[in-house]
Amino acid sequence: MNTALVRKRLVIGNWKMHGTRASNAALLTGLCAGVAVVHDCDLAVCAPFPYLAQVSSSLAGSGISWGAQDISKHEHGAYTGEVSSTMLGDFGCKWTLVGHSERRTLHGESDQLVADKAVSAIKAGITPVVCIGETFAEQEAGRTNEVISRQLAPVLALGAQSLSQMVLAYEPVWAIGTGLTATPQQAQDVHAFIRAQLSELGVPQVRILYGGSVKASNAVSLFAMSDIDGALVGGASLVAEEFLRIAAA
Ligand code: 13P
Repeated sequence: MNTALVRKRLVIGNWKMHGTRASNAALLTGLCAGVAVVHDCDLAVCAPFPYLAQVSSSLAGSGISWGAQDISKHEHGAYTGEVSSTMLGDFGCKWTLVGHSERRTLHGESDQLVADKAVSAIKAGITPVVCIGETFAEQEAGRTNEVISRQLAPVLALGAQSLSQMVLAYEPVWAIGTGLTATPQQAQDVHAFIRAQLSELGVPQVRILYGGSVKASNAVSLFAMSDIDGALVGGASLVAEEFLRIAAA
């Protein structure tokens, strides 16, 4: 089976902690108006929690889906400030990021917690987008594959059935918001390394996105790589035309 043929392109915008009701309205209107240029690609945006209702209603019928940027590993209970996957699933959330490097670094999320969150999402019918990636120092020290393997270990341990309901996103930390992008070949090498592990477990069809300063100008060369199935886009997802040009690449 040629898994490249069954892996539909996926482009997700991660708005991070940006937006107001007014700026979101303009962005969402732009996305809905321009989405016809995008073919053969699943398109989604992950917005801050307070704006998910706005995003959900504005995108209804557009073909663009939406998701959260994080979830709790717990279903309900005394966890002040947390939002559960069951709550998000309750109103039709399709995706959630888990283990974004900003959560791992700024909020101390462990590899195991990230895997637990992925499990919680799957239980609620939400597709977790599990983010992994090495820092600049780790890359410089030639430790990229070691770090990726460590981050993936508790996720791969969940087995083929769970993995087939996930998306992975390789985001080298040094490329996030810096304007530095991994070269297409650098990204491809890591994606191929991840794909080999997925293949060993019988799930080569799991989509692997690349993230880190993706723009319309570099999307074509990244997407030309055989193991890059799409992108997780930060800054460029806040500009409708740019985001759509990435998805159309
Ligand atoms: P930038 O595209 O702004 O580099 O952000 C990448 C990212 O962190 C997406 O999750």
